[in-house]
Amino acid sequence: MKGLGKIGFIGAGNMAEAMLQGMLTGGICQPGDIHVTNKEDSQRLQNLKERFGVHTTAHTREVIQGAAIILLLVKPQDMEEVMEEVTPLIDSRQLVISVAAGISLPWLEKRLGPGLPVVRVMPNLPCQVKEGATAASMGTWTRPRHKILVDKVFRPIGLVVHVQEDLIDTITGLSGSGPAYVYMMISALAEAGVQSGLTGEVAFPLAVQTVLGGAKLVKESGLDSQQLLQLTSSKGGTTLAGLQELEKGGFSAMVSLAVRKAAKKSREMNLAL
Ligand SMILES: NC(=O)c1ccc[n+]([C@@H]2O[C@H](COP(=O)([O-])OP(=O)(O)OC[C@H]3O[C@@H](n4cnc5c(N)ncnc54)[C@H](OP(=O)(O)O)[C@@H]3O)[C@@H](O)[C@H]2O)c1
Repeated sequence: MKGLGKIGFIGAGNMAEAMLQGMLTGGICQPGDIHVTNKEDSQRLQNLKERFGVHTTAHTREVIQGAAIILLLVKPQDMEEVMEEVTPLIDSRQLVISVAAGISLPWLEKRLGPGLPVVRVMPNLPCQVKEGATAASMGTWTRPRHKILVDKVFRPIGLVVHVQEDLIDTITGLSGSGPAYVYMMISALAEAGVQSGLTGEVAFPLAVQTVLGGAKLVKESGLDSQQLLQLTSSKGGTTLAGLQELEKGGFSAMVSLAVRKAAKKSREMNLAL
């Protein structure tokens, strides 16, 4: 694969680390291609430099100058300040990719000005282990080559879907926040095992492997989750007894509510233009 060139990271938090790890182990680029900055936490930059071998600096200009791709990995509430700083440094040959929840393309384009290509993405933390789920919406000034660039960055670290921007809030509620729902499920499974007499050392790995294996089977068997549900819940059996309890407690309805609530929160977070 042709190299992507210099990649600038504005922000060095959880999502930045997930992407760094995924991109480097996924062979997307070399550590020397990546330049990272944050707001003030110099310890954090030092830590990323030592662990990943990437360039780090306190100066945004050094990250942006000559970068082919600039990733904005900061919290939504910090975006206004970040845009004020980065906009004068960016030109139309560079691609800006924003991961910030609730920051719309029109909001970004208004600040960057006409002609500046920008993409809004919603990745999730499993990017760190190359099992991410990323949705991307291309901005007004992007060209087909920018879409290819987005795929080159995110496909090696997981699934990528290209969608219209009005779907991003729902996707935030589903796959952006979704890993946390899965962690809750794993914790609940393990805890149930412990309450019934297993040790944590036995229950926890069983719970993790069950979720991992369950998802892998959906992906690789050619059967969808409803077909697998049928297959695993024979009449009068143990699984059906468990499933009936889950549904009595409103499991599907609760998951649906969680996705819709998180999506609503994402819509509410959309900053006014
Ligand atoms: N975490 C997730 O699961 C997830 C999933 C999908 C999308 N996202 C999106 O990813 C973005 C980052 O989330 P996160 O969890 O990584 O947040 P985080 O861990 O709090 O990291 C935020 C980073 O932004 C830096 N920052 C703040 N203001 C800055 C400025 N003016 N210039 C340069 N850097 C600045 C912070 O630096 P200091 O530490 O020095 O203040 C920190 O390194 C958010 O917009 C979120 O919506 C996150």
